[in-house]
Amino acid sequence: MLKRPVDKSKLPSRHVTEGPARAPQRSYFYAMGITEEEIHQPWVGVATCWNEAAPCNIALNRQAQVVKQGVKKGGGTPREFTTITVTDGIAMGNEGMRSSLASRDAIADTVELTMRGHSYDALVGLAGCDKSLPGMMMAMVRLNVPSVFIYGGSILPGRLDGKDVTVQDVFEAVGKHQAGTMSDAELEILERVACPSSGACGAQYTANTMACVSEAIGLALMNSSGAPAPYESRDQFCEASGVSVMNLIEKNIRARDVVTRKSLENAARVVACTGGSTNAALHLPAIANEAGIDFDLFDVADIMRDTPYFVNLRPGGEYVAKDLYEVGGVPVVMKELSKAGLLHEDCMTASGRTLGEELEDIKGEADGRVIHPVSTPLSKTGGVVGLKGNLAPEGAIVKVAGMTEAEQVFTGPARVFECEEDAFAAVKAREYQEGEVIVIRNEGPMGGPGMREMLATTAALSGQGMGKKIALITDGRFSGATRGFCVGHVGPEAAKGGPIALLKDGDQITLNAVTGEISVALSDDELAQRKADWKGPRETLYASGAIWKYAQLVGSTRLGAVTHPGAKAERHVYADL
Ligand code: FES
Repeated sequence: MLKRPVDKSKLPSRHVTEGPARAPQRSYFYAMGITEEEIHQPWVGVATCWNEAAPCNIALNRQAQVVKQGVKKGGGTPREFTTITVTDGIAMGNEGMRSSLASRDAIADTVELTMRGHSYDALVGLAGCDKSLPGMMMAMVRLNVPSVFIYGGSILPGRLDGKDVTVQDVFEAVGKHQAGTMSDAELEILERVACPSSGACGAQYTANTMACVSEAIGLALMNSSGAPAPYESRDQFCEASGVSVMNLIEKNIRARDVVTRKSLENAARVVACTGGSTNAALHLPAIANEAGIDFDLFDVADIMRDTPYFVNLRPGGEYVAKDLYEVGGVPVVMKELSKAGLLHEDCMTASGRTLGEELEDIKGEADGRVIHPVSTPLSKTGGVVGLKGNLAPEGAIVKVAGMTEAEQVFTGPARVFECEEDAFAAVKAREYQEGEVIVIRNEGPMGGPGMREMLATTAALSGQGMGKKIALITDGRFSGATRGFCVGHVGPEAAKGGPIALLKDGDQITLNAVTGEISVALSDDELAQRKADWKGPRETLYASGAIWKYAQLVGSTRLGAVTHPGAKAERHVYADL
């Protein structure tokens, strides 16, 4: 046992464990079998997003038990609690998806409230799905307590006809089935084998992207995100995370000592070089907001523009998270970035050592198959590109990993839909022409509400073989599993009267990911006239409840669609109360 002398005089838990006035609280603690010695140790919240909603979360509870053993080994008192999740893979393509992005902020809020309400001193957070990863990291930075993040691990790939398959193949199979090129029986076989285990979706979609971020930003231990969820070898990282948080308490290293402008840049580099999800351009600004750091969509896009893309992961490339783990994982990726001078190595990490010190211990090298050497990348610029122009003065984002330069330029007439359902129905009925730009508006954070992902529509287009013959723009989002020329996060959103609200069928739209342009061939005068004629935001069905509350609070996509002012406006830091 690593027992250390404990000075509780500055720790939040003193408010509930010390002195005669806290006898009632101690009674509750004794009722739960907590010993006198444990009461007077530092208290560590072990927050999981465990539930039975989806395979992404199902293995978190087991891993949390091992984290708790690590906390105890380090001389702390772990208290496990759970928060909510919304699972994108299940909410996708229906009204449930409106709860997804809102759940990120609800996760941050509920972890914050549990920590505040019970005066926990530090936090180990386990998460395994798209929104729970950023939500948990946001809570860590917001509370500014010593914090260690640990990913639940990814799913194993399924196998069919000698090939690895993932849930992306199932989404795209729906398009093939609609197009009549896949039978009912073939679809049924695929849906039964595509997801063979617990764990988050296996390709470089949002969960794995944010898992890579967790290591690059420094909140997670090196290589802790790599092993798939069913591997019990994950336990060594879980235990080490519990021990580490105690080390951070002792050294008073807090989340905002780890998350800095430089570490956010490191995180954006890793997203870019792995062809990660465009959702990182929402989540990194949101994490930055919790630290009071200015880091918006354009900052993310700038980094992506000069970062080579050299990690060959699906959906743009060929491999899944398990393959990345087997060739050394995120630390080897970061070593390559560092060889090109693209990494800030003086950033602090969850181990209490700097990123540079951690990387010195990494022996692996780029294998040339999954991780290419940075000197011979798959392409010279990142897998994700920021766009700007008269159609998106507050920017937009597109994933280009795996696309040729010629495929990154698209001009065509707009076909405008007022919501995802209308677009999906038209695609299903093939009521569109090759060469058009499908516009799906009123899907922004406020106007949706909830900034849904358009995967059902894009997967159906891919399934119809139209992925390269059609472009799509939206003020909503795309899943990491989306393929094709799909521009999301167009801002300002339609509900705020952004130019996307003013488009009409046939307007000529130009998208150019090489030059970073998104424009419509309309004069300033014409746009101003249409704005004057605009009837205002569309009414939604959400006039009460959590989604309504979210729509009242949520801010601009460019700044991460956050729901509170962040550290810049705070008058106290929780950990110092
Ligand atoms: Fe949870 Fe994909 S649905 S990670």
